[in-house]
Formats: sequence, C-alpha cells, structure tokens
Amino acid sequence: MEHPTYPAFRSTSLPSHTALALSTTPDSSFFRRDSDCMLSDGPITPPLSPERSEDGDAAIIVDSEPRYSGPGGQVQPSIPHAHLREGDSRHGSGRRSHQQDVMDVDGRASASSPRSPQRHLEDEQSHLEKGSLKLTDFEVKGTLGTGTFGRVLLVRLRGSSSQSTANCFALKVLRKTEIVRLRQVEHVNAERYILSRVRHPFIVDLYATYQDSLNVYMLMSYVPGGELFTHLRRAKRFTADVTRFYLATIILALKYLHSFNIIYRDLKPENLLLDSRGYLRLTDFGFAKIVDDRTWTLCGTPEYLAPEIIQSDGHGKAADWWACGILCYEMLVGYPPFFDETAYGIYEKILKGRIHWPNQVDPLSKDIIKAFLHPDRSKRLGNLIGGSQDVLDHPWFRGVDWDALERREIRAPIIPHVATVDDTRNFSHLPLPPAEEIPGLIREERPPSIQQRFDSVAYQFLEF
Ligand SMILES: Nc1ncnc2c1ncn2[C@@H]1O[C@H](COP(=O)(O)OP(=O)(O)O)[C@@H](O)[C@H]1O
Ligand SMILES: [Mg+2]
Repeated sequence: MEHPTYPAFRSTSLPSHTALALSTTPDSSFFRRDSDCMLSDGPITPPLSPERSEDGDAAIIVDSEPRYSGPGGQVQPSIPHAHLREGDSRHGSGRRSHQQDVMDVDGRASASSPRSPQRHLEDEQSHLEKGSLKLTDFEVKGTLGTGTFGRVLLVRLRGSSSQSTANCFALKVLRKTEIVRLRQVEHVNAERYILSRVRHPFIVDLYATYQDSLNVYMLMSYVPGGELFTHLRRAKRFTADVTRFYLATIILALKYLHSFNIIYRDLKPENLLLDSRGYLRLTDFGFAKIVDDRTWTLCGTPEYLAPEIIQSDGHGKAADWWACGILCYEMLVGYPPFFDETAYGIYEKILKGRIHWPNQVDPLSKDIIKAFLHPDRSKRLGNLIGGSQDVLDHPWFRGVDWDALERREIRAPIIPHVATVDDTRNFSHLPLPPAEEIPGLIREERPPSIQQRFDSVAYQFLEF
C-alpha cells in the first residue's frame, strides 16, 4: 500500500541542489526567497519548541527543493545474491556564528567529552596534483549537474584522443560571489582539505584544485553511472538485497570517515554516484567537517536531518547514522519516512517521529531502520559503545562479506550503461556554461593584483 498523502512533486530531471538558507521563525512568512536562495534572518529553532529561540545570526543551508515524484509501478533491478556469503541465512543544513566570519562554533562545552579520532587527517598525505596541469589544459564536454554554488562539468584533457578514462574528469565549479554571499568560505576550504587527504574505494577522488577571478574549481574523478537518486526513481524502490548492497558500501565509507572524526552531513541519493562497475562513490563534501565531538553548524537536506540538528542541540557522527536510517527507508520504500511540502512540515514530522511502514518492509529491515532512527542519539545504532562495528554486526547485514565488498569483488546490482569514457547519458542534459562564466578554462588569466586580493568579487582562496 502506498503512503496515502504521498505528494507528487519534483521531477527527476530538475536539478535538486538549490541552496536554501532558511529562517526558522515559525510564522507564515517562513521563507524569504532571494533568487533561488532563502536567507535566514534569525536563529534556527526547533519548529515544535519556538520558545527555544535565541539571539544571533544563523542560516541553515539546506536543499529543500521538493524531491519526490509520485509513486507508480515497481521495476526492480536484479537482486545481488553474491554479496552475501554462501550458506548464510538472508533477510529478507546555517551556522551559529555570532557576528563571526567563521562558519562553525566548535569546541563549545558539551555534555559528552570530546573523543579523539582513531587517526588524524593531518597525518595523511595530500594527494593533490601540484602544478603539472593547468585549467586551460581541459576542454569542457558537458554539464553533469548544477549545484548549490555553481555546477559540475565533464572535462577532458585537450588533445587526448585515446579512450582512456584517465583523461576525463568531473570539474566542480563554485562561484566565489555565491560562496562569500552565503558565507560558505570555510565549508569550501574544508571540502578541499578533507577530499585532498581521504582515499577510499567508495569516495570520489580529488586530483587538483584551481581558481580564476570568478570561480574555484575542484578536479575529481568522473563517476559516469549517474546519481543513485536517478536509479532509485527509475526502479521506484529497491529490494532488501539491493538496498543492503548500497547501504553496506555507505556504512564502510562512513566508518572510514568517522575514524578521522570527519562527519559527512549530506547523505542522500543525489550525492551517491554509481561508477562504471555499479559501485557507489560518495561525492559532495560541501558540508563535511572534522569534529571532535559536536558542532552547531546547521546544514543538510530537510528530509535527512536528525532531530538534534533541527533542535540546534549540537550534532556529531550520530547525525550520519540517522541519515543512514532515512536512506535505508527511502531505498526500500521509494520515498523518505518524513516528507512534506515545506521544510517546516518535514521538521515537525521528524520531531514527532511517527513512521508509516508499508507492507513490503520486512521486520528485520524495520528493526535496523528504527535502530538508526532512534530520536535519542545516545541509543542510536552506530553511536553506541561498539560504534560502527555495531552496524556491521546488525543481523540485517548478516552474511555480508565486508572485506570482499571493500575490495569491490562483488557484483553490483545495477551496472550502468556507459559506452565511451565521456558518455553522459546517465546525467541530465544541461546546457554548457557561457565562456565568460568560466574564464580560467578559456584562457590563462593574469595573477590578481594586490587590491584584487581583498576584493569581495575576486576573493582569493589561499588554499586553492
Ligand atoms: N565526480 C563526479 N562525477 C560525476 N558527476 C558528479 C561528480 N560530482 C558531482 N557530480 C554531479 O553534480 C551534482 C552536484 O554536485 P555536488 O558536489 O553534489 O554539488 P552540490 O554541493 O551543489 O550539491 C551531483 O549531484 C552529481 O549529479
Ligand atoms: Mg550535492
């Protein structure tokens, strides 16, 4: 049975990455539109506890474009049995900066003591390419996606005629004025820093970064299979086995990130890309952050926000485990457990915590989703004393060969069609940007003058 009030909005061909900064003042003029952005006038307060509002200036950067198209017939991709060991049984986004330029207020006193990471990201070598390739060495072949502050282009090394995948890249282009206007400088620097040092089979690779007078650029591996979002909408919903395959890879990626005390904070099918073999790659580290304990930066996507984020209670790794519960439900059911036409309505439902369970959700799947969606993070799966190991050990994952999965030895459920190295059939067909919007890709620019370095338009990102 379908959800009775399941709304029919969001077409999958629309970009879904509009940045919104939401005011959470709970009145009818809840959103103030500023082109495609909404800016906050006041602090984030939980919708059901308006008395908790505080002074200050905060914005929440969320993607609150309606995300869900109406339900229809179910088309299921093939079931991957191989990721289970033989013989095993199987079952079935703001900030709370107080007039500061900085994004986050970490290191505040919090109830629990900070935990040191198992490993330190600063000990990892940066694997960024240093200077051997210039922006002008690439030609633009297509637009893969539009994002919060810019777009992602498919680029190819000029003059490379071979069909080698090594010559095609995804280039994330972020508008400096947008980054500065939405006060995301620190997030963009964190995205670069974190991606330059992490290395994992289920996380996109960052090779180099650049900037010109208008944009910053991140050169990444091109992941050609498209968003999991597209494949999920096409299939309507996934079987438990398909869901298990994808969720297991995400669990491993999160386990890896959390070992550095990196929280990801933007888990959703739009940020999960299928590579040519059908394995997921986590992309978009725009909200990722190294956090010893909790942070108060409010960012993410409404449907995926944990209650503690909505309640401005400080959040940490547990918020990623919550998002795993939402993702698991969305894959099994076809839409997320808490949805509404407005972000405000979504927050109310998250805080109420009532979940509708369609018949196709089997008891064990229900059990793991409920364990992830525990409103009390101290009781939430992944955030208990056993940490991520508890997730791996949950009976829902019984039979998963985690090592084989991480070695990518298991056949993925959906193998995307990719004919050539620069095939973009799995992405929406968006127009190329005008040349004047990507000046550094067209011709080499002269280095900025001293005055320009302090210019808000030509803002210099020192790290890039
Ligand atoms: N490495 C990549 N390979 C292929 N497509 C990508 C890659 N990175 C991003 N994209 C596409 O661009 C979209 C926007 O990129 P993303 O990093 O998520 O930006 P934003 O922070 O604005 O959401 C993604 O949802 C995806 O469709
Ligand atoms: Mg994204």
